[in-house]
Amino acid sequence: MVQHEPRRHEPWSENRAAALIAEHVHLEGATLPILHALQETFGYVDEGAVPLIADALNVSRAEVHGCITFYHDFRRAPAGRHQVKLCRAEACQAMGSDALHAEILAGLGIDWHETTPDGRVTVEPVYCLGLCANGPGALVDDLPVARLTVDGLQSAIKEMAS
Ligand code: FES
Repeated sequence: MVQHEPRRHEPWSENRAAALIAEHVHLEGATLPILHALQETFGYVDEGAVPLIADALNVSRAEVHGCITFYHDFRRAPAGRHQVKLCRAEACQAMGSDALHAEILAGLGIDWHETTPDGRVTVEPVYCLGLCANGPGALVDDLPVARLTVDGLQSAIKEMAS
């Protein structure tokens, strides 16, 4: 069976964050490139990065916070071991994805963008995965799942964990 390696990120380090910020600080509109670099490196944007970015760009911490919260792509905590992306676009909606998503999230006890307390699963919305003809579509880590059901999602998560 194929082994699926979870993507590794570096553990949060203030020194490493400061170096990444220094690498991007000269760019125009540096906030977004800095946040992307931090997320790529650590897997999320640690709260400790906010004052570093604010100082480097001479903006308020509130402005940095505002940017992090405005763009849902930025995580404020490490992601779960498995990332589930559920398609919320129209073709999947027509296949009943809204009700299915509500059932999935209720079953996991989390909302969009959240991670289960055991750190197993993070759920994110996406808008079309190219599985429209076989919706509802989902992506579990890098495994596409067509005709998604609650059981199908559990099987896909188990497969990615094996
Ligand atoms: S609309 Fe959901 S996969 Fe395209």
